[in-house]
Amino acid sequence: MTGNVFQSEKIIRLRHLGRSFMTDPREAVRLVPEGLASYFEHAVDYDIDKGWEPRLHEWLGAPWPCPELERGQELWESTGEELEAHGLSFGRHTYGQYSDADAALGRAVWCVVLHLHPAVVVETGVARGITSRVVLEALEHNGEGHLWSVDLPHPFEPGIRAQTGVAVPPDRRSRWSYVEGSSRRRLPPLLRRLGRVDVFVHDSLHTARNTRFEMECVGRVLTPGGVMLVDDISTHQGFDDWTRRTAGTRRLICPSADSEGLFGIVDMCPGARPTAPS
Ligand SMILES: C[S@@+](CC[C@H](N)C(=O)[O-])C[C@H]1O[C@@H](n2cnc3c(N)ncnc32)[C@H](O)[C@@H]1O
Repeated sequence: MTGNVFQSEKIIRLRHLGRSFMTDPREAVRLVPEGLASYFEHAVDYDIDKGWEPRLHEWLGAPWPCPELERGQELWESTGEELEAHGLSFGRHTYGQYSDADAALGRAVWCVVLHLHPAVVVETGVARGITSRVVLEALEHNGEGHLWSVDLPHPFEPGIRAQTGVAVPPDRRSRWSYVEGSSRRRLPPLLRRLGRVDVFVHDSLHTARNTRFEMECVGRVLTPGGVMLVDDISTHQGFDDWTRRTAGTRRLICPSADSEGLFGIVDMCPGARPTAPS
């Protein structure tokens, strides 16, 4: 059964690749190696950190139970209501085959940004902008920091591109730079320009190859004490490979709120040694 699910996912990816050539050939070319590499992906049987939220707060030097969670929950609920007011549903598979961020990832992003007070936040993968909204609300609360979001809008369903970033209202956009294009193309020059990243959220193309690539790029400029949040880590080995190969990092394996997936959190300890890119 699991084997069949993985096979059909791979067939779907190849079909998507074919269609994307018609929309944006320059970006579609970059998807070819992703499609091929996905045949060598395997699921990872992680041990879940059931107490990930208290552990995360311990890393961040923040109190637990967290006094900010109630406000985070209110934000989550009002974001869902605003999407509904636009006639959009909120949850899994709402942007083509992609999903809005899960509530547990949303809580983690909220607490990391609020407690760490980052100056530079980078994310990959916007879709309707749930994680972007959470980051931007937290930055607004902190009164400092900026978010750069690298995003390749849906390559083969142009009809839903208009939904990109719809969860971010106009009065929350002053700390936001939207960088359109694939992370392969856009992330390296952006990171060269920024020179550092304090918080990174990966929520773009969840292949082993792409996840590893983004973690390698960001790992080289992540500040000591900086944090990476990486969504959808269980269907491939990318997160596991990078965290095992990179000395001086700690990781948490966290269940999504709907128990359908896992996300990972990495803490870059001072003196961590990132690997060279593959
Ligand atoms: C899972 S959704 C992002 C969900 C979003 N973070 C949220 O919280 O609602 C993935 C997004 O990444 C985009 N994407 C796909 N491949 C990409 C790539 N190679 N580089 C950057 N973005 C990509 C998709 O079009 C989609 O907008």
